Amino acid sequence: MEDSIITKNKQYWDEHADLWFGTTALPKYGVKFVTEDDLHFFSDVAGKKVLELCCGSGHSLKYLWDKGAGELWGLDLSQKQLDNARQFLNGSGCDPKLVCAPMEEDSGIPQDYFDYVYSIYGIGWTTDLAGTFKKIASYLKKDGLFIFSWGHPLHYCVAKSYATGEDEVQNGELVFSRSYFDESYFDMPVHDTTVTFANRKISTYVNALYEAGFIIEKMVEQTDEQTLADSTDNGPKAQKARMIPLSMCFKCRKIGG
Ligand SMILES: C[S@@+](CC[C@H](N)C(=O)[O-])C[C@H]1O[C@@H](n2cnc3c(N)ncnc32)[C@H](O)[C@@H]1O
Repeated sequence: MEDSIITKNKQYWDEHADLWFGTTALPKYGVKFVTEDDLHFFSDVAGKKVLELCCGSGHSLKYLWDKGAGELWGLDLSQKQLDNARQFLNGSGCDPKLVCAPMEEDSGIPQDYFDYVYSIYGIGWTTDLAGTFKKIASYLKKDGLFIFSWGHPLHYCVAKSYATGEDEVQNGELVFSRSYFDESYFDMPVHDTTVTFANRKISTYVNALYEAGFIIEKMVEQTDEQTLADSTDNGPKAQKARMIPLSMCFKCRKIGG
């Protein structure tokens, strides 16, 4: 089952890569969400070795290169995304090592090597959260940082139409359209097809991080100030973002050897 999900999602990303060129990348962490300019999670990146999981078109790698990162690695399931990343990063002076593989698999990424491993709207695609977190811990040096963002679990079970994939707010009210406890895989409509993933509880992330040897230094679930203040924007996404976080972000440190 997991293999068929990876194969299906890979086909989506290979066929639609151009539609996602630079759309979910640093300094953004998520949808109507605080940014790296607010959080400064990468304040110490100069000269450091960094690995991005699910690096997509390479825009976050470029952002960190411009901040002085010393060595860039990116991993992605989709060769088309990596081709776009290679093209985008060409001429920027960095020579990233780009690895085409699912994050769930052993792919020859060095162990005890990186100062930072991060993923912007990528981790939730994994079909093996606990195993992926353990792999990430193995790539990091002791005291290295793991930073990731993903959709907030409330975002996927509140006011979400599973027929259209759109947010539906009725008379200013948000309705639960799926149980918060339901972690089974589901198909989300997107463009002319669907993608498949599971909506995991926050406790599932927290417990898997602990099991993999991380401490959480910060968890953020904060809609950006502009969205919170702009009561003239009554689109469903803005209404929703004023009531619940649409994204979440973790800063974690590897403890132990
Ligand atoms: C929303 S994009 C992230 C884009 C990235 N943050 C950027 O700066 O462009 C999600 C990426 O995850 C990749 N992906 C999905 N499932 C994956 C998996 N199981 N292993 C590795 N990459 C995966 C997709 O190919 C896609 O490029």
